[in-house]
Amino acid sequence: MRTFVKPHVFKLGLATLCAVASVSAALAQNAPSPEQKAADARQALFKVVDWNFSPVAEMLRHKAKWDAAVVQKTASRIEALAPMIPDAFTVDTHANGAIKTKARAGIWTSMPDFKAKADGLQKAAAELAAAAKGGDEKALRQAAMGVGKACSACHDNYKDK
Ligand code: HEC
Repeated sequence: MRTFVKPHVFKLGLATLCAVASVSAALAQNAPSPEQKAADARQALFKVVDWNFSPVAEMLRHKAKWDAAVVQKTASRIEALAPMIPDAFTVDTHANGAIKTKARAGIWTSMPDFKAKADGLQKAAAELAAAAKGGDEKALRQAAMGVGKACSACHDNYKDK
């Protein structure tokens, strides 16, 4: 049995090796640039931020009832995500024309202000978490609007429409 199996295993092993080698060659050729990786990461981060905020956005739009527990969870997640925003913009991508992005070049010339906008989001999220502890609907709405305003404060200056 063994004498029959072994050559097959060997051939298969060789074929696999060749396949792996050509795949990694192809991958190296199409490897995303550092700018592309940075843009992918930050866009993914904003998708996660947006996905987390959406239940509260629905409450703001009167499409869902205020639920302090959901608001609390949303707030603490956004509070944790906000400091990742400046980190996700460490690589300046504006000069790479191949990148599909809405990020304005001004981000990298006004980094302290951009960071302040991210801090603003973190602060607004902390205020929303505090309001969620009380559970008063009016306070929840006001604090949730504060978070929405912190998103716009940055978008208005640093994101194309
Ligand atoms: C400090 C600045 C800043 C803050 C704060 C901010 N954003 Fe953004 N956001 C950006 C920039 C810049 C882009 C464009 C990224 C790109 O295209 O490379 C963006 C992109 C997005 C996108 C598009 C993601 C994609 O590519 O699909 C969504 C959705 C989004 N933001 C939602 C939000 C929400 C919701 C908040 C608030 C809870 C928020 N953002 C707060 C700067 C910010």
